[in-house]
Amino acid sequence: MERTLVILKPGALQRGLVGEVISRFEKRGLKLVAMKMKQLDQSILDVHYAHLKGKPFFPWLCSGMTAAPVILCCWEGFEAVKVVRAMAGSTNARNAAPGTIRGDYALSAQENIVHTSDSVENAQAELDRFFSPEDYCDYPSPLNQFLYAPDEK
Ligand code: TYD
Repeated sequence: MERTLVILKPGALQRGLVGEVISRFEKRGLKLVAMKMKQLDQSILDVHYAHLKGKPFFPWLCSGMTAAPVILCCWEGFEAVKVVRAMAGSTNARNAAPGTIRGDYALSAQENIVHTSDSVENAQAELDRFFSPEDYCDYPSPLNQFLYAPDEK
C-alpha cells in the first residue's frame, strides 16, 4: 500500500478544523499509520519548500507555516498519494472545487489548510523528513476486504 504525507497547517489548528479534516481521510477509508504535532522552523521549511525559494510569497508562506504548530499525518491506502491530493483540491483555494478540503474550508492560495505530497517519490522523501521508522504503527486492517478488491493493494 502507498503512503503519503498530510500536514494540517497552522490555520487548520487555529480554526478548529483538525478533526474535520482528519475525519474526511478516515471516512474515505485511508489508514492513519503515523501522526504527530510539531512546531516547524525556518530550517525545515527551507528544505520542504525548496522549490519555492525565491518566489515573492516565500517569506509569507514560512511565516504562516510557523505561526502555530502543525499536525503531521501519514495516510496509507491504494494509490493514496493521488487520492489524498485530489481530496485537498487546487493550491489556490478560490479555484478549488467544492467538496475538496480547500474548496470547502479556505479562500486563499497561501492559507489553504493542508499540504499533501504531490508524487510517490516526493511522498517518501517528505515522510522521511518528518517521521522516523519508530513513528509508524503497524496494526491490522480488518476492513480491507470491504474497502478494496484483491488486486488493489
Ligand atoms: P505548491 O507546492 O505549489 O502547492 P501545493 O501545496 O498545492 O502542493 O505550494 C506550496 C505552498 O506554497 C502552497 O500550499 C501555498 C503556498 N503558495 C502561495 O502562498 N502562493 C502561491 O501562488 C503558490 C503557488 C503557493
